[in-house]
Amino acid sequence: MIQLKAHAKINLTLEVLGKRDDGYHDIVSVLQTIDLADELRFEPHPEIVVECDATTIQPEENLARKAALALREALQEERGAKITLTKRIPTAAGLGGGSSDAAATLVGLSRLWEQDLSPGDMGHVAQALGSDVSFFLFGGTALVEGRGEIVTPLPELSETWAVLATPPIELLDKTARLYGALAESDYTVGSATRGLVLALRGGRGLTPDQIFNAFESVAGGIFPGFAEYRDSLVDAGAPPVHLAGSGPTLFALTENAEEAAALRERWDVLGGAAQVVKTVATPYNRA
Ligand code: C5P
Repeated sequence: MIQLKAHAKINLTLEVLGKRDDGYHDIVSVLQTIDLADELRFEPHPEIVVECDATTIQPEENLARKAALALREALQEERGAKITLTKRIPTAAGLGGGSSDAAATLVGLSRLWEQDLSPGDMGHVAQALGSDVSFFLFGGTALVEGRGEIVTPLPELSETWAVLATPPIELLDKTARLYGALAESDYTVGSATRGLVLALRGGRGLTPDQIFNAFESVAGGIFPGFAEYRDSLVDAGAPPVHLAGSGPTLFALTENAEEAAALRERWDVLGGAAQVVKTVATPYNRA
């Protein structure tokens, strides 16, 4: 039996450079895994069977199942596996939970089936499952380019605390709609990301003003009730509030664990969905 954690992520920067001919957008982004994580267990089984405790995920849409089927096909593997997935990352929240489950499944099954594949070996399968899956084969702090599939690990960010708040807003085809709502004027040239990459490579820490997300300007128009929710967090006395990926989760970085706990208490009265997290620098998917 193999057990792995599938960590969530936040985007420290997320810049959209422009639209491509294939319908995707070219991005540059610095991604960071955090200690909030789903848990996956892999056991030998003749078929691919996925047991998941989240009723919000349609079984046929579960990215762990899709990843298992895609890897079995790519390896021409005849064995199956029983995968037990315990969800802790809010779904469709901008935290990469589904993509992380997919990456953890590729890693877990490559071990269960004694293949021990590297991230490079699994790159093609990962990319076909979703733009963020390749990053989660690495985790930690990484620069992501292309549509998300070109991943360059960066020096690990020193331990940083944050508070997350996920508003109860569900939206079909959320990511595609957010990309579709971007105007040319929302496209940037990547300088925020380059600045952060230089700072991290130079051994300098992250400052809140380095955080950037191209979707900040369109999220209010796409998610019903988002602007009010965001305002209520700011009114509760927050440090700068940032959008996590394609949202609707919002986060704020804090100086330390105590500040994070205090901010969580102030945010929690707004709906009980706030949680304290910290960055995880260890290689991804090591339980
Ligand atoms: O790759 P993934 O399935 O996560 O993407 C969902 C949708 O988000 C895509 O169908 C596309 O519309 C949009 N997308 C994009 N550019 C990216 C990633 C996603 O336009 N780099």
